[in-house]
Amino acid sequence: MAPSFSSALRKQQLADIDLLDLEPDTDTLLADVIAGLSATPKTLPCKYFYDARGAKLFEQICELEEYYPTRTELGILQDNLEDIAKRVGPDCAVIEPGSGSGIKTRLLLEHLHDPVAYMPIDVARDQLLDYAAQLAVDFPAMDILPVCADFTQALQLPEPNRETQNRMIYFPGSTIGNFKPEEARQLLKGWRQLLGDSGSLLIGVDLKKDPAILEAAYNDQKGITADFNLNLLKRLNRELQADFNLGQFRHHADYDEATGAIRMWLVSKEKQQVNINGSEHFDFETDEAICTEHSHKYSPDDFITLAAQAGWQTEQMWTDENRLFSLWYLQTG
Ligand code: AVJ
Repeated sequence: MAPSFSSALRKQQLADIDLLDLEPDTDTLLADVIAGLSATPKTLPCKYFYDARGAKLFEQICELEEYYPTRTELGILQDNLEDIAKRVGPDCAVIEPGSGSGIKTRLLLEHLHDPVAYMPIDVARDQLLDYAAQLAVDFPAMDILPVCADFTQALQLPEPNRETQNRMIYFPGSTIGNFKPEEARQLLKGWRQLLGDSGSLLIGVDLKKDPAILEAAYNDQKGITADFNLNLLKRLNRELQADFNLGQFRHHADYDEATGAIRMWLVSKEKQQVNINGSEHFDFETDEAICTEHSHKYSPDDFITLAAQAGWQTEQMWTDENRLFSLWYLQTG
């Protein structure tokens, strides 16, 4: 079959995209899973939630009545776009670790003053290239410079064609909450060093609040969060030839006051054994739980302190009227 006009055009556009490929190590699923299930308590890394079905389920989570973060952060962004654009200034380069926050990124890029470049960073090479090609069509005045890399590792950034006044890392979605405070500090410190003397960070952070609101957001009535959590086991069955019986585990989420984090768990309904790859065996007691995610919440003071320890100076915090979520503008100083 002859290629359609649109697919030929897409190839052409893909060919024009300059990819900086830092060749991230993507082959660590098995080792990560064995390490996690060998620990006490058992854990699994939350970054593995996002296979194709997981990404779809997460989109559905973002639409849920109980899940306030996505819509609240979008509202904060919409309400303060002018103020944000003024702070960022003209001719900036926007760097997005873990690209693909979709509408928020587009809204931001549309309102900044003559942005020079957009640099999405992601391990998923093909998705990254598709995303970059689409943005190149939609934002012809900007350099779209994707970087294939694990953003938690040492990074290198491409050079835009035009001179930039401000290199700004955009990290929305409270993804920072998935890191333990010590890891979050290291991550922010690394980015501070990457940007050198003149740079900034626009970051979304979920706030501490009434635990009932938090627990509802991770235990939705429709059970989408439960499906999202259990989908991790489905993925391991498929990709690692594991034999998790999905009916033998249930979703649970609770708020831990001591660490200020929502924790997600998969709880074994019975005493059972799970096999991975035909060679690794893991025993579960009745009610034994695998911790699949930490989602840390910060008070404004907690976050100012964390940022300062990582070498960032707080310029501005924007929030919603109920103080559910916060968006921060930090500078290297
Ligand atoms: C994408 C990490 C921000 O912690 O709220 C949503 C992921 N997990 N529901 C979050 C998630 C369960 C989400 N983050």
